[in-house]
Amino acid sequence: MKKPISAILIGAGFRGVTYGGYALENPEKLNFIAVAEPFQRRREQFAMDHNISSENMYISWKEVLSREKFADIVVICTPDQMHIEPTLMALEKGYDILLEKPMAHTLEDCIKIVRKVEETGRILGVCHVLRYTDFFQTIFHTIKSGRLGEVINFSHRENIGYYHFAHSYVRGNWANRDKSSPMILAKCCHDLDLLYWFMGSLPKEISSTGDLMHFTKDNAPEGAPKYCIEGCPIEDTCLYYAPRIYIDIEPIIQIVNKSNRGFYKFIVNLRKNHLKLLTFLSKFISLLKRLRYWRDWPVNYLYENEPEDYSDEAKRRILKTNPYGRCVYQADNNVVDHQLVNIKFENGSTANLCVHGFSPYEGRTLRIDGQKGTLIGEFMAYGEKLTFLDPLNGKEEIIYEKELDVSGAQHGGGDYQLLDAFIEDLTTESKNPLTNAREVLESHIMAFAADKARVSNKVIDMERFREKNI
Ligand SMILES: NC(=O)c1ccc[n+]([C@@H]2O[C@H](COP(=O)([O-])OP(=O)(O)OC[C@H]3O[C@@H](n4cnc5c(N)ncnc54)[C@H](O)[C@@H]3O)[C@@H](O)[C@H]2O)c1
Repeated sequence: MKKPISAILIGAGFRGVTYGGYALENPEKLNFIAVAEPFQRRREQFAMDHNISSENMYISWKEVLSREKFADIVVICTPDQMHIEPTLMALEKGYDILLEKPMAHTLEDCIKIVRKVEETGRILGVCHVLRYTDFFQTIFHTIKSGRLGEVINFSHRENIGYYHFAHSYVRGNWANRDKSSPMILAKCCHDLDLLYWFMGSLPKEISSTGDLMHFTKDNAPEGAPKYCIEGCPIEDTCLYYAPRIYIDIEPIIQIVNKSNRGFYKFIVNLRKNHLKLLTFLSKFISLLKRLRYWRDWPVNYLYENEPEDYSDEAKRRILKTNPYGRCVYQADNNVVDHQLVNIKFENGSTANLCVHGFSPYEGRTLRIDGQKGTLIGEFMAYGEKLTFLDPLNGKEEIIYEKELDVSGAQHGGGDYQLLDAFIEDLTTESKNPLTNAREVLESHIMAFAADKARVSNKVIDMERFREKNI
């Protein structure tokens, strides 16, 4: 029997633990033998889950990478601004790497990484997980089969749920571009990667517009305290009232209610309408306990420095001082809350991307018009669907459909499928485009060009942009 790939995890946060879950489910494919993570609880939990010995537990990437190479790969899941250094060092040590997106938070650093990959001849996979979902794979193969004819336009919307936007881009880790990266890179390098992949051509021109319009101090309601829980005058009507998101988990209940999952709808409504009964039943049934004392995304972000008490009282106490308890109109955010990007490709086709943070439900919607047919897609948190419209006979055909995924798999199953593909690339001759660092760089170049176009209010000539920057 073949030995599993041995791995070092750097950064045992939300993403690191997700990839850890893959190893636990597929021990014959992947085995984490070391972890570097400054938070003691996360480090110890990961080490315990993966049976990692104490000499292989490290506080920081610097320590683990200063050792001689002792595993096959390094999985890097640190915050955006902390990608460049461990990646360069791991490449120098001779590791193949799975790196979370974005590659780095500046174009200069992305290019440094690509050059180092090419110099060392190592494999670098970047976690553009959407490419690996069944939904986006179906689109790609439909285009490739010629069913749409020549693709003329791709219109893509990234509808970020209002709760997700407030969590990540107003109160959280990606709210301030000086501390992380431009929103169009942090959130949309996936989407730009899809545009580039589907259109099969390099971008020729990019223009963009967008702004921070809503989450500003000027929009703070009169008398609103700095923390929601301190007695906000509009707490009953504010979508962003922190206890509504982190204690009542109202957005999650609404997603389940919008799906076709009858049983799950029934139990989430226990949470909403019969809390006492749910509290009682949760003593006996673990699924109900998970729902009653929610600890998964986005609540897990409240608990970086807190004891693991997931009761309502503990959450209320945390929200009094935690950044995620802040009024969304009085945070230190400066990233845009909506942006449009227009792209003309070298083959003459066009695409436009609209991203915004005000959707009731999270997800992507898209329309691809080819000269022989049209694809309309919904890749939403509550379900997925792709419809092909055939203008020759006026028929509509649903070519892909999936219900709400309650397995806990992230990104429509893409996370685990990405790992399958990465491991295949490590162990066989087959190479997928996302372990080609130059191919991955394209979406990042597009994001930086779109950011420049928006800030300068100019159309970016991509040939000149490349000449100047790469
Ligand atoms: N592929 C995707 O769709 C996707 C989705 C979300 C996030 N991300 C990316 O994944 C990365 C991690 O995001 P996250 O949500 O897991 O964040 P997180 O904050 O939950 O995890 C990051 C972890 O890195 C640890 N860390 C900090 N300094 C370190 C050091 N010196 N050595 C080792 N570990 C260190 C932190 O303590 C933390 O536990 C980010 O780059 C993010 O943009 C990708």
